[in-house]
Amino acid sequence: MGTPFISLLEPSKLEDYDRTKPHDQQPGPVAKAFLDAMAVREAVFVDEQRMPLEYEYDEDDPRSCHWVVYASVSHVVELEQVDPATNIIVRPRRSETRTVPIGTMRIVPFPTRPTPSPTAGPRDPARQRDHLHHPFGIDISISSTRSRRPRPRRRRHHPSRCRDPAPYAQDRATTFHDGQEPYLKVGRLAVLPAYRGRHISGQLWTAARRWLETHPRYFDPSVTERGMDALGAEQASEIPRWGGLVCAHAQAAAVKTYGRWGFRVDEVMGHWYEEGVPHVGMFLRLDTKNVPPQV
Ligand SMILES: CC(C)(COP(=O)(O)OP(=O)(O)OC[C@H]1O[C@@H](n2cnc3c(N)ncnc32)[C@H](O)[C@@H]1OP(=O)(O)O)[C@@H](O)C(=O)NCCC(=O)NCCS
Repeated sequence: MGTPFISLLEPSKLEDYDRTKPHDQQPGPVAKAFLDAMAVREAVFVDEQRMPLEYEYDEDDPRSCHWVVYASVSHVVELEQVDPATNIIVRPRRSETRTVPIGTMRIVPFPTRPTPSPTAGPRDPARQRDHLHHPFGIDISISSTRSRRPRPRRRRHHPSRCRDPAPYAQDRATTFHDGQEPYLKVGRLAVLPAYRGRHISGQLWTAARRWLETHPRYFDPSVTERGMDALGAEQASEIPRWGGLVCAHAQAAAVKTYGRWGFRVDEVMGHWYEEGVPHVGMFLRLDTKNVPPQV
């Protein structure tokens, strides 16, 4: 494997993305980097972890930043030919090098879904992936009596920067979150099984972290575009503004990985299940001081 390189996809229009179809059967044009991210997510969450395909893509995807890590992989396209009489190689083996996506991660802007309540058990259908409550008020929950087929989408979705503002509602206070401060959410972290244990995920996080530290105002809502009323603010100090807080809803098996990056488990948030997989909430605060305010 050659040296991996990482690519960033900023919020993009994905309204034609069909969540019932895999990434390589999408009917409309979709950003290549997003298809690559979905290739990894499908391999890891759908094929390996058996999560339903239709839950993999969600309403947060168009408004998120996605990082995709690629590796150059050499594979044999033609075996060598040996003359059986002389045992001499008459045609050498032919290899080709391809660049393939091997890992991905996304950062979801605020507002995010409300903090999950640690009540549902591992088989409770009310804990399917994190599709319960959407900050834009779209009901995409699925009750136990319904099939797992996705509901038709009701609205088209656009990145946070060009859509109507979402409600900046009060959430339940936990150990590291006062219930109100805007935070970004890191998630859909996945590395293909063949590339695990080489700190590929750490490279993804380093890239995302550096980007956040250099673009701390990127996800802040624009008062010019949205207006004070829509942001629920009466004065400038009340405008939602990212202060460096990052949250991860981590699968239990990934807690150590996030811990290495400085995330701490939020004890009050508790644990919950998504598709039978135990999750905990973790938080990290990045230093965004000395960053000029958004104009
Ligand atoms: C979690 C995940 C992203 C970590 O990626 P990674 O690039 O392998 O991360 P690292 O190289 O730092 O290794 C992480 C751990 O896996 C171990 N590991 C080593 N080789 C491994 C392999 N072949 N397969 C699985 N884990 C391996 C490492 O020793 C390390 O263990 P430790 O945390 O006890 O020290 C990856 O395992 C993954 O995609 N898992 C499935 C999806 C998932 O759980 N995502 C997190 C959702 S919150």
